[in-house]
Amino acid sequence: MDVRGNRLYLGGCAAEDLARQHGTPLYVYEEAVIRRQCRRFKESFTEAAPDIHYSLKANPNPAILHIIKDEGLCIDAVSPFEVRLCLEVGFRPEQILFTGNNTTSEDLRYALDQGVAVNVGSLGELERLGDMNPGGRVSVRINPDVGDGHHHHVITGGPDSKFGIYHSDLERIGEIVERHRLTLTGVHSHIGTGILKPDHMLAAMEVILAAAARLPRLEFIDFGGGYGIPYRPGESPLPLEELGREMTRRFAAFCKKYGRPLKMKLEPGRFLVAQSGTLLVRVTNVHSTPGHIFVGTDSGFNHLVRPIMYGAYHQIINASAVEGDAAPVVVAGNICESGDVFTQGKSGIEERELTTPETGQVLALRDVGAYGISLSSQYNLRPRPAEVMVQDGAARLIRRREIYDDLIRGFVEGREERANSAPESVRP
Ligand SMILES: Cc1ncc(COP(=O)(O)O)c(C=O)c1O
Repeated sequence: MDVRGNRLYLGGCAAEDLARQHGTPLYVYEEAVIRRQCRRFKESFTEAAPDIHYSLKANPNPAILHIIKDEGLCIDAVSPFEVRLCLEVGFRPEQILFTGNNTTSEDLRYALDQGVAVNVGSLGELERLGDMNPGGRVSVRINPDVGDGHHHHVITGGPDSKFGIYHSDLERIGEIVERHRLTLTGVHSHIGTGILKPDHMLAAMEVILAAAARLPRLEFIDFGGGYGIPYRPGESPLPLEELGREMTRRFAAFCKKYGRPLKMKLEPGRFLVAQSGTLLVRVTNVHSTPGHIFVGTDSGFNHLVRPIMYGAYHQIINASAVEGDAAPVVVAGNICESGDVFTQGKSGIEERELTTPETGQVLALRDVGAYGISLSSQYNLRPRPAEVMVQDGAARLIRRREIYDDLIRGFVEGREERANSAPESVRP
């Protein structure tokens, strides 16, 4: 952590200055951290030389996609608009793998028309794709009956998950592929997100390799994403280098038995971008109940939903006074729901020791680069924050703050234009 004169710095810029120049709430991303994480990930799998597909659902900002492209990575896309954005950023169609779920025929048609490889996750979709594109190429997502993740909402393997063709249904895949003369290019699995221990990843890998052994003529095996980062101080990180070595060893041994080399694919999202992101919010109010000191801010779960949705922990720092007298406080947002609290634990509101915040100070919520802005909403008709990229003491705007017009654009009736009487800070 870069602290100078008791103030927090991000990418060489004082957080307070960023907040003053760009307003709050503000998402700030450190380019150097994204590049560091990309390189660490690549280096952990050097020998396997996999295609690394960034999962842009974690954060789709084109400025981030350009860094990802520059680092030589490919793309895991899950919707037609994700595909479209990546093409607009300059990724080639063959660098993109489209893995939808419960897709429409229009979704599949769009990917096919763009020349983007399609990965299907159910027998029904495989059948439909065969009807739409007989003789074409396809890969399949397998549910290995193993799942993992930081919360039950994000576990994507096992019988309670809607994702993937169960590994026990392999013969039916073969029948459909044959009937439509499809080329089955690969098998894929993704068992969940925010995983910090390798055990389940390796167990799922074994199931996928066993499935792959029964499918001739594959070109690749895709082991998905899920690589977690430690959010809480003291939490043990995923031993990525060790996991990379072990996956590489098992994959090489498999290819030897399979009779020819296959391409390994991996799909990290969170690992690459989470730690680059900080959400700066301004303290708007401090008040007490018999239970807690509530520190109110100008943001909320509309901008960072992970605490209320998953009980997720994000470190909070008083960026205006990093060290000093601390008190146990609850940090809340400005959304009209009592669950709108950033300091959540698995069973609800938690207090957190924070350098005693005062109205007007800037708080920094850390590690929000993944599933932060991408899961944000316009609830309560609050605009989404601006985003800036910082590097070597310079900041540039990479997404402007939403304005009133952005929020009401889709409404087709019932409004009458009014003279603009909104306060300057929210004026379109
Ligand atoms: C198919 C697929 N691949 C990759 C990812 C990326 O996961 P993570 O951000 O945990 O690496 C996801 C996320 O849910 C996913 O659904």
